Amino acid sequence: MQVPLFATSLAPYHERIAERVAEVTASGRYILGPELDAFEREFAEYLGVGHVIGVGNGTDALTIALRALGVGPGDEVVCPSLTFYATAEAIVNAGARPVFCDVDPETACVTAETVRPLVGERTKAIVPVHLFGNVAPVPELRDLGVPVLEDAAQAAGATLGGARAGALGDAATFSFFPSKNLPCIGDGGAVTTNSDEVAERARTLRFHGSRDKKTHTEVGYNSRLDSVQAAVLRLLLPELDGWNERRRAAAEAYERAGIGEFVTPLRPVEGAEHVYHLYVARSDDADDLAAALSERGIGARGYYRTPCHRQAPMREYASGDLPATDELARTIIALPMGPELGADQAAAVVAACGARAAA
Ligand SMILES: Cc1ncc(COP(=O)(O)O)c(C=O)c1O
Repeated sequence: MQVPLFATSLAPYHERIAERVAEVTASGRYILGPELDAFEREFAEYLGVGHVIGVGNGTDALTIALRALGVGPGDEVVCPSLTFYATAEAIVNAGARPVFCDVDPETACVTAETVRPLVGERTKAIVPVHLFGNVAPVPELRDLGVPVLEDAAQAAGATLGGARAGALGDAATFSFFPSKNLPCIGDGGAVTTNSDEVAERARTLRFHGSRDKKTHTEVGYNSRLDSVQAAVLRLLLPELDGWNERRRAAAEAYERAGIGEFVTPLRPVEGAEHVYHLYVARSDDADDLAAALSERGIGARGYYRTPCHRQAPMREYASGDLPATDELARTIIALPMGPELGADQAAAVVAACGARAAA
């Protein structure tokens, strides 16, 4: 049985997406305007947060949110090294210095313990990453007394203690890249916050540091969420909870089929409702396992084998050991996941792990 790594497809929505695109085309309002306003309102209501600001992508969302929180040159921002490069890249692009922290080896998320030793006088923000659809423990991070910016790119719809990722910190960011849990049909992202002040600054920054295109109050960016993408996101947002439910059902199917005999799945953070952007487990021979599964037609891939602090442009910021990060970077493997992954496919993946173990 062939099982793709990303078991998700927009094919059933193609016709309705085309209709929404045609409506935007006919409207003549392509940048800012009613579709974006409506998506920002609807996503804010879904998250239970005061403001959503649609921007060009999840990376710009991070840079803009950091600057809106007042981060700039000379500041330090604590973030995990075990994340997509964009998390650290945005900190550097905001003019600040990333300070890489370790993660909990069982959840792959940062904790108050891994962050606390790195918080000092220059620390202007902490950026926990809700990695693979898990939710980092934001309340204990907020107790450290520094603004918390959630990188929720991989966790649309996840909750912690009943509150949505994206509504837990001082601000948060999302990516709507096509493989994400809430996708659009190109690049897209958003900043979220309960603070009127941070929201106003993010709106200004995404539009050349201006609200009226005549007076510019700072040097910003040209980074808006296009009306076409906003219209597609309005169509797909009502599907998000159902898709995430199916992702969780697929994770349960893996457990029932006995995946734990062959690999050690990462566990959800206490109180988190995980949304399994990826289904990730630890294995001492992760790369051999991925190769053996691929030979059997099953998508599997190592993630973040070179964590941020070991990437060439970030080495100048690396300091101190990150043992759990290095261990996870060596051992994690993503197995097929998505709303379309059936229990039979999950069982086939586990059977393939078993066949390889027996070979
Ligand atoms: C954790 C994380 N942060 C930020 C980003 C950046 O998002 P984008 O690709 O929309 O710029 C991603 C995207 O893959 C991500 O996974």
